[in-house]
Amino acid sequence: MPFFKLPVLNNGSNTFFYMALIPLVFIFFGVNLQAQELGDHQYTSESIQLGLGIYNRECALCHGIQGDLIDNIDLRLGKFRSAASDDNLRNVILEGRAKGRMPAFNFNTRELNGVIAYLRAGFDPNGMAVRIGDPSQGRILFEGEGECSSCHRVNGEGPRIAPDLSNIGKIRTAANLQLNLIDPAAAMLPINRPVRIVTLSEETIVGRRLNEDTYTVQLIDSEERLRSLVKAELLSYDISDSPSKAPTMLDSGEVADVIAYLLTLVGEGGSP
Ligand code: HEC
Ligand code: HEC
Repeated sequence: MPFFKLPVLNNGSNTFFYMALIPLVFIFFGVNLQAQELGDHQYTSESIQLGLGIYNRECALCHGIQGDLIDNIDLRLGKFRSAASDDNLRNVILEGRAKGRMPAFNFNTRELNGVIAYLRAGFDPNGMAVRIGDPSQGRILFEGEGECSSCHRVNGEGPRIAPDLSNIGKIRTAANLQLNLIDPAAAMLPINRPVRIVTLSEETIVGRRLNEDTYTVQLIDSEERLRSLVKAELLSYDISDSPSKAPTMLDSGEVADVIAYLLTLVGEGGSP
């Protein structure tokens, strides 16, 4: 957080000028705070730009401009042999690999972050580079402190009141997962909206919408039952705009771990 020092108000005639500045200062701090919050979860665009130069100079020779010249490795798509987290990548780059076929690089922290940011941005200098933490730590958080498993089902375990995440790593990007955790309102898919329905027989049903067509709506109710309702038989049907969960209380390092875990969920062992 930058530190601002306004000059001392020693002259009455300037007071009005300074008072007029106050709202501007608030606006500035507000915007900056938001940037800061996101900044902790992802690499800056300066970092990505720096990484672009380093990559092309130091890595492209062996890995190629597109990052896919070495078998079973696609640096742009995040396909590695053993590395998963950003820390793993740091170690690979600092230590080298395959008995020196990949040399060890003597980068400082800024350069190291730059290269990783460039990889995580998918080689897009204007892209977004989400930090990826430790997947095994992420799993512990998912099932524990993060309370994710109190709503979400993974590989046949857990409730059905929220979307099943068994293959979420295959269908969503890291950036999308991050948004869902830190700003669920912005990430909410229209179809997943919470609904509140009163039927003509005066039953109230609260649940999560799964599907809808002109005549019917399908949802999972609060008792986890799959319901299909005929719209003509409903007294009221309200779709909520607010997400059914709050932004996560996990800190940015923990969010990076949870994202790493979610990215490992690619459907194997998944169950309906
Ligand atoms: C002289 C050739 C060479 C250069 C230069 C090089 N690499 Fe590699 N890199 C390799 C080889 C070969 C492998 C495969 C190692 C193996 O067999 O496991 C590899 C593997 C990797 C892996 C996958 C490691 C794993 O176990 O998952 C990453 C990530 C990687 N390199 C990143 C980089 C980055 C970033 C740079 C530039 C800073 C770079 N490499 C420069 C040759 C190179
Ligand atoms: C109170 C219940 C609840 C908790 C706790 C919860 N979620 Fe969710 N989550 C939902 C619901 C409901 C949706 C679907 C509606 C929406 O997107 O807001 C959802 C959506 C998601 C999605 C998007 C699914 C898609 O198809 O894109 C992801 C990813 C996700 N949650 C991950 C998590 C993780 C990780 C945690 C723990 C840090 C967590 N959720 C905690 C209820 C919850």
